[in-house]
Amino acid sequence: MSLGPCEIFEVGPRDGLQNEARDIPVAEKFALIDTLSRAGFRRIEAASFVSPKWVPQMAGSAAVLAGITRAEGVRYAALTPNLRGFEDAKAAGADEIAIFASASEGFSKANINASIAESIDRFTPVLEEARHIDLPVRGYVSCVIECPYDGTVAPSAVAEVADKLFGMGCYEISLGDTIGAGTPDSIARMLLAVRDVVPAGRLAGHYHDTQGRAIDNIDASLSLGLRVFDAAVGGLGGCPYAPGAAGNVATETVARHLAALGYETGLDLEVIEEAAGMARAMRTD
Ligand code: HMG
Ligand code: MG
Repeated sequence: MSLGPCEIFEVGPRDGLQNEARDIPVAEKFALIDTLSRAGFRRIEAASFVSPKWVPQMAGSAAVLAGITRAEGVRYAALTPNLRGFEDAKAAGADEIAIFASASEGFSKANINASIAESIDRFTPVLEEARHIDLPVRGYVSCVIECPYDGTVAPSAVAEVADKLFGMGCYEISLGDTIGAGTPDSIARMLLAVRDVVPAGRLAGHYHDTQGRAIDNIDASLSLGLRVFDAAVGGLGGCPYAPGAAGNVATETVARHLAALGYETGLDLEVIEEAAGMARAMRTD
């Protein structure tokens, strides 16, 4: 019996590769993204227009967006922390962008050198400019369960930031368990608070698998109405400013799990396995 559609938002080329110690040649990125483009994803996060001093691994993002073979029906997304990033993403032809905030002050400072309030001020003109050219903007909230600097994060703090990003015009809010500290119970408590301010159909779960609980956390999220999950092929991933964040939940595991439960993902599992093999070969750990 079909349980209806469920989407995986592929973040491997960005959230995955931003954390690799090795300097990955753009040709390898083209090959990975071009393979992912054949797998049936509707959205692939391929680039990040951040300071190369902060994240050198993403420095070739314009070249990546210029060199991939774009597949019809796939939106290629890019992170943009400020107006400079927005301009670069626009020039490179990103199909959508993402701004990224944190529910905790410690991570906000470590990751983007701004308080939460300052980051929202910084994102406001990005949203305005994006609206002028009809560019969809996704909003991330990091540290929705725990922060590597501040400890436990209250569900109300997550709801407050999610509400702000949604109110500013983000079409979807992706909730990041940045260091994989969530359990089905803590994820459910957080989602119940966030659902009060953003409809479940506009939320995505972005779960790192550091403790091996991401699939259980996806199950808890499914039962609360979420139908979009971020994942990285081959389990690539992490965040250079979140010690212990290694490992986004692997796309191939999520895709198989959702299919076994009866959800339709529209994904070709064989092509995903092919991409997962490439991604694993790119990993340095
Ligand atoms: P700053 O040092 O406060 O900013 O960094 P600044 O304005 O003083 O600029 C510093 C330098 O960066 C200047 O260059 C700027 O021109 C340049 P300099 O004059 O020193 O030569 N610069 C830029 N260069 C390229 N692109 C830009 C840009 N902006 C400034 N857009 C800033 C502030 C936000 C720029 C910095 O902190 C930054 O880039 N942070 C990004 C960190 C990052 O990418 N983290 C990983 C992504 S988030 C994540 O992984 C979590 C997520 O997956 C969800 C989850 O799991 O929770 C999304
Ligand atoms: Mg992440």
